Amino acid sequence: MTDSAQSIPYTTDNAGIPVESDEHSLTIGDTGPILLQDHYLIEKMAQFNRERVPERVVHAKGGGAYGHFEVTGDVSRYTKADLFQPGRRTDLLARFSTVAGELGSPDTWRDPRGFALKFYTRHGNYDLVGNNTPVFFVRDPQKFQDFIRSQKRHPRTGLRDNDMQWDFWTLSPESAHMVTWLMGDRGIPRTWRHMNGYGSHTFLWVNEAGEKFWIKYHFRTDQGVEFLTQADADELAGHDADRHRRDLYEAIEDGDAPSWTLYVQVMPFEAAADYRFNPFDLTKVWPHTDHPLIEVGRMTLDRNPEDHFVHIEQAAFEPSSMVPGIGPSPDKMLLGRLFSYPDTHRYRIGPNYQQLPPNRPHAPVASYAKDGPMRYQPARVSRPYAPNSYGGPAADTHRFGEIAGWAASGEMVREAYRLHREDDDWGQAGTMVRQVLDDAARERLASNVAGHLSAGVSDPVLERALQYWRAIDKALGDRIAARINGR
Ligand code: HEM
Repeated sequence: MTDSAQSIPYTTDNAGIPVESDEHSLTIGDTGPILLQDHYLIEKMAQFNRERVPERVVHAKGGGAYGHFEVTGDVSRYTKADLFQPGRRTDLLARFSTVAGELGSPDTWRDPRGFALKFYTRHGNYDLVGNNTPVFFVRDPQKFQDFIRSQKRHPRTGLRDNDMQWDFWTLSPESAHMVTWLMGDRGIPRTWRHMNGYGSHTFLWVNEAGEKFWIKYHFRTDQGVEFLTQADADELAGHDADRHRRDLYEAIEDGDAPSWTLYVQVMPFEAAADYRFNPFDLTKVWPHTDHPLIEVGRMTLDRNPEDHFVHIEQAAFEPSSMVPGIGPSPDKMLLGRLFSYPDTHRYRIGPNYQQLPPNRPHAPVASYAKDGPMRYQPARVSRPYAPNSYGGPAADTHRFGEIAGWAASGEMVREAYRLHREDDDWGQAGTMVRQVLDDAARERLASNVAGHLSAGVSDPVLERALQYWRAIDKALGDRIAARINGR
């Protein structure tokens, strides 16, 4: 690690003033009282007391690296987004994480893994804040907070609580597809390098001519998908809680830069209305037979940050950062997330979080934002309002003015999505169990579920959990039941 302080031959305080001692406080005689005028001691204690920012409310434990994205395919007929134009190379930051555990929790706990990317494009930051799963547990942001609380610690015991987890899942049948992913091999990747990443939501792409397409992102690991068994993961949790963080750091230090190939699935804009299931429902995948993968490019991670706190802990990913050529879809979860992330960053890091090194756009910033705590970049404009007659920036409505959106009208309602003809909660989970998993993978799934359900789940919840698995796949449900007390 380079250390610029090493070029200074003596210690200074934070004001750059040489200090008299690294080890001894200022006292009256060697046993005398410590003096309030020992400004350096007080600075050290005060700074230490303020070293932490709050951990992320979810995805607290993670690690990441810098790298770049190179376009290898040609998707210019689907999007005008600069970063996806043929031949373009764009710098990026990636952060991988677990969801429910705290900052020091083991990397190998069973959990979805975050797959958050920040592309420093020529038109500003593009953040793709996905997971290693193409689906999610719920389909309405109104349920996200409840879902997370059921996965975190019990308010009385302070312990993770399997009963709360299964209570919520079994009362929320839309979770079936994601829980099947989670309890199977993908629930514990061997390393972050050995997992795929997904944008999970459906997004809107707009091309140069203004034509619109619905798309889904798939980052396929070039290292191959590999997993840990529950037993291996449990053992690793005990003796190397930072296994995945260490693995990524060491691979990059050793020059073994991991990479992922990005593909998209594309659906014509008009086809969404009567697709066989709701294409904006986050609990569903689009079968590749309907929408094959189209190659876009390759992401490579080849540079460890010089300071974990500065670049990873203070990294602020936000699905609302979308660049021209890319927009949201009517996925209610995505729309909810557009508010949530900048809000949590203002609380966790501070309102000027976008000035910090990992978040600072590489594109020029010409916003009218000003002031606030810890702002250090001078205002970019001489008059802090628009319009002004002093040469301040004006929106380029001709070039960038097209809204990446869709038409909507109707009464205000609180309702589930209108059902398409094949919409249900169990179908895709069952197809995965029967057609995607082989028998060995099904056996591991049954064993993982039975093990989880055998640890602190109350009888009524256990009964519902067995119905839940039988609804996904009768044979699998029976297999799980047979493993638990011979039910
Ligand atoms: C982190 C909210 C759904 C992926 C977070 C954070 C919040 C949050 C508040 C902490 C951010 C921070 O402190 O930096 C929500 C809400 C959701 C939702 C309200 C649904 C309504 C999802 C979904 C995905 C996802 C569906 C993936 C498809 C992530 C990732 C992070 C994260 C990867 C960690 C980002 C990082 O590495 O800094 N989420 N989330 N979240 N979320 Fe979500």
